[in-house]
Amino acid sequence: MKFFVDTANVDDIRELADMGMLDGVTTNPSLINKAGGDFLETVTEICRIVPGPVSAEVAATDYETMMKEGEKLATLASNICVKVPLTPAGLKVGKNLVDSGQSINVTLCFSAAQALLAAKIGATYVSPFIGRLDDIGQDGMQLIRDINAIYGQYEEIGTEILAASIRGAQHVVQAALAGADVATVPPAVLHQMFKHPLTDNGLEKFVSDWKATGQSIL
Ligand code: E4P
Repeated sequence: MKFFVDTANVDDIRELADMGMLDGVTTNPSLINKAGGDFLETVTEICRIVPGPVSAEVAATDYETMMKEGEKLATLASNICVKVPLTPAGLKVGKNLVDSGQSINVTLCFSAAQALLAAKIGATYVSPFIGRLDDIGQDGMQLIRDINAIYGQYEEIGTEILAASIRGAQHVVQAALAGADVATVPPAVLHQMFKHPLTDNGLEKFVSDWKATGQSIL
């Protein structure tokens, strides 16, 4: 499974990239607002840090403006993945970008029907939002299972399932079991994935027992 980090915080991205954990990055307007910097400069810098795909989202909702924004974002770096919303205008923009050879991420996917539309335009990624479905009492993970089952039946579908809106380490595990190709994970969740009390306790015991031997490896 590929790991993308879901943030526009350059320090967090650099730290996780240095740990060898990152295959890519996703941003959205809310994450850009939270990080606080200039959007175009921030995503360009992220593209320099991480060689994998970096999702940068259009901000408009009408076709003409979204198209211009998508074309501009595509010029920022070779590893930009233009993110478009799952609306008729968003998919029209997405289709044009795909036809020009640009990778795209179709965001705000909340149903299998929508995922079929993303596949139809040849989207590189579709982003089903697990956590937001759970928030309204639906089963976000079932959507991943459904999309995986549907896409698996059609050889011609190359769209990858990018599990988004992830709230915890168990979401990542469940998304992997459900067949997601990618999980985009907030930095705190990626750090949480390292954690297990038995790892901490086990390491503490190994350290004290090693000390008791009085030996040194170096
Ligand atoms: C990423 O591509 C999505 O925009 C993001 O995962 C949404 O997460 P949220 O529901 O926590 O805002």
